[in-house]
Amino acid sequence: MAGTFETVGVVGLGTMGAGIAEVFARAGLAVIGVEADPAALERGRGHLEGSTGRALARGRLTEAERAEILGRVSFTTSLEDLADADLVIEAIPEVMDYKRALFTDLDRVCKPSAVLATNTSSLSVTAIAATTTRPGRVIGMHFFNPAPVMKLVEVVRTVTTDDGLAGEVADLARRLGKTPVTVGDRAGFVVNRLLLPYLNHAAVLLENGLAGRDDIDAAMKLGAGFPMGPFALLDLIGLDTSHEICEVLFRETRDPRHAPAPILRELVTAGLLGRKSGQGFHCAE
Ligand code: CAA
Repeated sequence: MAGTFETVGVVGLGTMGAGIAEVFARAGLAVIGVEADPAALERGRGHLEGSTGRALARGRLTEAERAEILGRVSFTTSLEDLADADLVIEAIPEVMDYKRALFTDLDRVCKPSAVLATNTSSLSVTAIAATTTRPGRVIGMHFFNPAPVMKLVEVVRTVTTDDGLAGEVADLARRLGKTPVTVGDRAGFVVNRLLLPYLNHAAVLLENGLAGRDDIDAAMKLGAGFPMGPFALLDLIGLDTSHEICEVLFRETRDPRHAPAPILRELVTAGLLGRKSGQGFHCAE
């Protein structure tokens, strides 16, 4: 029953984690936000205050509603505070060693019935689950950026996920106002498997001189009806995340079309990561 999820932990309060925390708090759940250190915790709190503040300014929330949402979120640097959480969702950087270490700790700290979810966009949920003593209670819950706006959640089940858990998590996603789709544990799941090759190809076309950045963006917005052009979207997702997803797709499929475009690699190497670093494709020409 999705109703059994009342207290959730969110580990990692970057753009995605803070957005996910906001989604849970808006749906009335108690949220415990965890970050590695006080400075990161304050940045996470700032994301939540900023996002709900913008909604207030647009007249989408009242002062009282905003205060209620923020009041449902507590902040801590201690994983031990997740001992009573019904579900914990991880949204830390896409590095398998970090995820495996975190899930080992979560498995130790969290009550045996707790569900441990990952928001990974590219790594193997099965490999993450295998680091725990409860692989049946580990699942992927993949949100999209910006999490408060995008309506989809990919529920990723593995060969070890308990029967019925994907359904419970899908019900929870509906309770959050999202539409769930249940997918298997293969690189990129559904959305990134289809989206990233397109975005990567746009970067290849730019490099080949087919058209300029703004013309490619305008072409796909106005000619294909996408809300953003590919370079604006790459900057939103983050060039490091986009590059990593392409690498994972390439490794799993060996399909040369998934090999990251050299310009993507170059920008990441230079630390130009899109919105999160303030510079990306929209500053690269
Ligand atoms: N946080 C919270 N709310 C936000 C937001 C954010 N970061 N950005 C926009 N919004 C809200 C706005 O407040 C506004 O809400 P209201 O209508 O209630 O006032 C609404 O979204 C629309 O925003 P704007 O009018 O400012 O701008 P827009 O109409 O151009 O929409 C957009 C912005 C929602 C980002 C839209 O351009 C869009 O849908 N872009 C595509 C995004 C996309 O494809 N995301 C998926 C990326 S893939 C991924 O995330 C998976 C992965 O693993 C990498």
